[in-house]
Amino acid sequence: MTDAAHQVHPVPSRLLNDPKFPKPHVNSFENYEKIYEESIKDPETFWGKKANELLHWHKPFEAVLSGGFEHGDVAWFREGELNASYNCVDRHAYANPDKVAMIYEADEPGNSRHITYGELLHQVCRLANALKALGLKKGDTVAIYMPMVPEAAIAFLACARLGIIHSVVFAGFSSGALRDRINDASSKIVITSDEGRRGGKTIHIKKIVDEALKECPTIEHVLVFRRTGSDVPFSAPRDLWWHEELEKYRPYCPPEIVDAEDPLFLLYTSGSTGKPKGVLHTTAGYLLGAAITLKYVFDYHENDIYGCMADIGWITGHTYIIYGPLVNGGTTVLFESTPMYPTPSRYWEVVAKHKITQFYTAPTAIRLLRRHGNDYVKGHDLSSLRVIGSVGEPINPEAWEWYYEVVGRKECAVVDTYWQTETGSIILTPLPGATPMKPGSATFPFFGIQPVVLDPVSGKELEGNDVEGVLAIKKPWPSLARTVYNDHNRYLKTYLNPYKGYYFTGDGVGRDKDGYYWIRGRVDDVMNVAGHRLSTAEIESALICHQSVAEAAVIGIDDELTGQCVHAFTTLKDDQIADVKELTLQVRNVIGPFAAPKKIYIVNDLPKTRSGKIMRRILRKIVSGESDQLGDLSTLADPSIIPVLIEKVKSS
Ligand code: WT7
Repeated sequence: MTDAAHQVHPVPSRLLNDPKFPKPHVNSFENYEKIYEESIKDPETFWGKKANELLHWHKPFEAVLSGGFEHGDVAWFREGELNASYNCVDRHAYANPDKVAMIYEADEPGNSRHITYGELLHQVCRLANALKALGLKKGDTVAIYMPMVPEAAIAFLACARLGIIHSVVFAGFSSGALRDRINDASSKIVITSDEGRRGGKTIHIKKIVDEALKECPTIEHVLVFRRTGSDVPFSAPRDLWWHEELEKYRPYCPPEIVDAEDPLFLLYTSGSTGKPKGVLHTTAGYLLGAAITLKYVFDYHENDIYGCMADIGWITGHTYIIYGPLVNGGTTVLFESTPMYPTPSRYWEVVAKHKITQFYTAPTAIRLLRRHGNDYVKGHDLSSLRVIGSVGEPINPEAWEWYYEVVGRKECAVVDTYWQTETGSIILTPLPGATPMKPGSATFPFFGIQPVVLDPVSGKELEGNDVEGVLAIKKPWPSLARTVYNDHNRYLKTYLNPYKGYYFTGDGVGRDKDGYYWIRGRVDDVMNVAGHRLSTAEIESALICHQSVAEAAVIGIDDELTGQCVHAFTTLKDDQIADVKELTLQVRNVIGPFAAPKKIYIVNDLPKTRSGKIMRRILRKIVSGESDQLGDLSTLADPSIIPVLIEKVKSS
């Protein structure tokens, strides 16, 4: 480990002492420890109190927690009733209609739009009325395949208003991936747009949707928002224009009050087997997780402008662009562009322009901008910032230091936040006014979270400090996903059965001598490329679907910029030919451009055990230049292929 990682940075004194800034909600480490202890000693009192403090209930709950990890029957706030859209919109619209809810920063610089809570309520209601008129009702599923426009958030909230389960598909996914997600969820409608704009490029969204819908029997309608106004294929009566539909309806629609445990949304994520899982989040627990973490992890206060740079297609966008900021009545920035467009100053222009107070991005973006140098940061007034966050993958200490010094000018708290699609909200993190930071460590558990380091083999809890193992969580917390859509067994198998009685994260972890947690990365076949979660099995199966491919082995290789990158080895069927370009295209088409392997090696044979299992470990070593440390090869069926593979990798 580098020196930087051992340095402890105290809470920046500006956060605690500058009279211009609001007093942090938690302003000392002792204070954090005290609240944490309480939350662990008596979780029901803690969560019950927070649920009443942060959410509006139409009917009070009768029990805080029932069920547990043992049987996978967790339920929070039973018999309680509420509505997520009411919590995120109505109550703020009535109290403060002119407060800005969303700032849309479009791809083209200089093009931004402010939407107040009053306007948001009108738009959400109109869309909800339109969905109702199309026959949608509570419990139905709607797919959202949208670029980063405010209408995407409006779509989330309109679904929530009616108790409709939204299933957002990241607009970088291919038509095939979209089709599979629509079919798995039996979505009835797709909400989409004509096109998208990102980094000056056009994304042909509607075309991709049309391609997907060739094989989606459950889809009845496509609601198309006009983003660019270009001519796009449109087939009435299936396709409907957003603006024409919304015009028809009045800007009020009563919220459908739902049970605390009714589903709020599905979000597909990659696991260690081929098929993506529809992770299901429920209304009250998820919303409470979003509300409480936004408030404490980012030290959110009344007049803040909160800017999360993620895409709404991932969980980070769900929780920290939409639900978290809005449930707190905050102002959230929707950023449509990239950190590089039109120059590597774009983030900092946006921070200065909108006076962003909390800024949240991913290590891959931080590394990229660091590489472009400090000049792009300097000269922009970043003094509004108090908290800068990182999420999605381990942040290397060098990138952390750059973020802290150059972007934060040593005056901002850096929150390295660890969580997952499944956890719904942040579970390991520093608190801005309280936690001394170590670069590269997600530090300590959030309130109510009981992390444990397990011995991966025995499953025993490793007590004390200075231990390494796998990360699991000991007790349920409200925002943990309840099930995998239509496949509860898979939920049990993936998360609750590997270590009985615990939620298993799939990540390796260390707890250092001071009790700080260090995420080591996935211990399963899941890769993390530029913060995107990809499964080796999913990419392999995409390759195998190519007519010429016989076998495929995919590995994650360390990459300076993207954390990991994808390398693939394939063998071809007899008498078949295929080139690397074609195979790359195959992955782009089946999953999406972001999953494309950086390198594909077409080889004659893959290293296999005598029982036929592909030994990916060997491939990883060869690609990483560690062919001299291949380890135990006794189970390898044909050792003679090793030098051939080494030569192939060298010459590619
Ligand atoms: C996986 C979850 C949760 C938002 C984005 C990713 C990795 C996430 C960190 C962090 C080290 C991290 C883990 C985790 N990860 N945040 N701060 N430090 N690793 O969500 O796509 O569900 O991926 O991302 O490996 O298991 P996701």
